[in-house]
Amino acid sequence: RGVCSSARRLQGCMSAWVIDQYGSNEVLKFSEETPAPTVSSPSEVMVKVHATSLNPLDVAMRGGYGAKLLNLRRDPLSVVNGDSEFPLILGRDVSGVVVDCGSEVTHFVPGDEVWAAVPPWKQGSLAEFVTLTEFEVSHKPRSISHAEAASIPYVASTALSALVNAGGLCKERADEKRVLIIGGSGGIGTFSVQLLKAWGAHVTVTCSQNAEGLVRGLGADQVVNYSAGDVAEQLESMERFDVILDGVGRETEQWALGLLKPWSGAKYVTLVTPLLQDTDSRGWLSGMFQAGFSLHNTAFQSAIVNGVFYRWAFYAPDGPALDEVRELVDAGKILPVVEAQFPFTQVPQAFQKLEEGHARGKTVVRVAEEDDKRQGEEMAESEQGFQQTAERE
Ligand SMILES: NC(=O)c1ccc[n+]([C@@H]2O[C@H](COP(=O)([O-])OP(=O)(O)OC[C@H]3O[C@@H](n4cnc5c(N)ncnc54)[C@H](OP(=O)(O)O)[C@@H]3O)[C@@H](O)[C@H]2O)c1
Repeated sequence: RGVCSSARRLQGCMSAWVIDQYGSNEVLKFSEETPAPTVSSPSEVMVKVHATSLNPLDVAMRGGYGAKLLNLRRDPLSVVNGDSEFPLILGRDVSGVVVDCGSEVTHFVPGDEVWAAVPPWKQGSLAEFVTLTEFEVSHKPRSISHAEAASIPYVASTALSALVNAGGLCKERADEKRVLIIGGSGGIGTFSVQLLKAWGAHVTVTCSQNAEGLVRGLGADQVVNYSAGDVAEQLESMERFDVILDGVGRETEQWALGLLKPWSGAKYVTLVTPLLQDTDSRGWLSGMFQAGFSLHNTAFQSAIVNGVFYRWAFYAPDGPALDEVRELVDAGKILPVVEAQFPFTQVPQAFQKLEEGHARGKTVVRVAEEDDKRQGEEMAESEQGFQQTAERE
């Protein structure tokens, strides 16, 4: 125990990007004096972060999204006492190396290369170190770099939660299923296309025209360009679907439910839900009640009118699920799709990139300085691989 790679960590400090208040990019502050986490329970592991990646949730959380419910999850007593969640560290993905383990940790030892998705109620990975429970962590794929690995855990955990838990799909029974992914070109979409193709499903994707080559290269069977006219009309001319994964939401719900096979157990699963917005605006109790009411109403109507299931899906921490993803990555069936990389000094620029929208895969931040040179070389190789993937079509 107690392998330390940072002198400042011995003094209890680490480098991190923190926020002390909610707001736009200006609230992001680099601090070399951030208290370093410690292993405080027997099932925890501490990881030295080599790379992380950004998700839309990071931009939203920087602005205060989800604060009421996340604070309740962080520490119910702190909500009662009015304690502050600041300084808060964002960043939901990590690829790195285990440096310390609690006494009951059985699957990891210091020195293991691991990857994980950091739950939003925990301190994030835009930092030198992060602490997670053993259950949340998985051994990293050997075939890809830390920068590439950091692009996968959060979108993989969310996609698996949505497709398996909410959508009822599994690798053994996916081969006869027709799946529609609304919003196929971002982090969730590019991962889901590959996962579903690895499972043998038939995959249709909506995206804008300039992403068509990318999603076809990742294996999509049918691509609908949503910028070339009425997307619902284009999809209505196709055979009905067994599962729809919606990463765009709002007005898509008006037409998507009618694209499912009626009265056959088909499921519409959306990742865009009002839960956190409702709890932010109404308080957690009233907000949860309001969200539950609207979910129940829409689900009931969908069942009666369309004969389909309507479901919300959320990220769920799941190390063992990442073990399965690792096998697919190491078998070459899932490729990391890294659109941009930033050094740790340029985290605000990485946020700005994400906020500009039109993601094509993931935006990665390299955290461990000693890795920069190696990662740069790997990036050159991965860019080559990525281009080949997109051109495979
Ligand atoms: N519930 C949860 O726990 C959870 C977890 C993770 C993510 N999410 C949500 O899931 C959504 C997707 O996440 P992500 O990480 O994949 O986001 P992302 O990486 O930002 O990707 C979004 C993609 O959607 C495309 N897009 C935008 N409008 C579209 C439209 N009308 N039709 C088709 N594609 C469209 C964008 O490209 P163009 O604009 O160029 O088309 C972009 O490629 C986000 O809203 C995110 O907040 C929810």
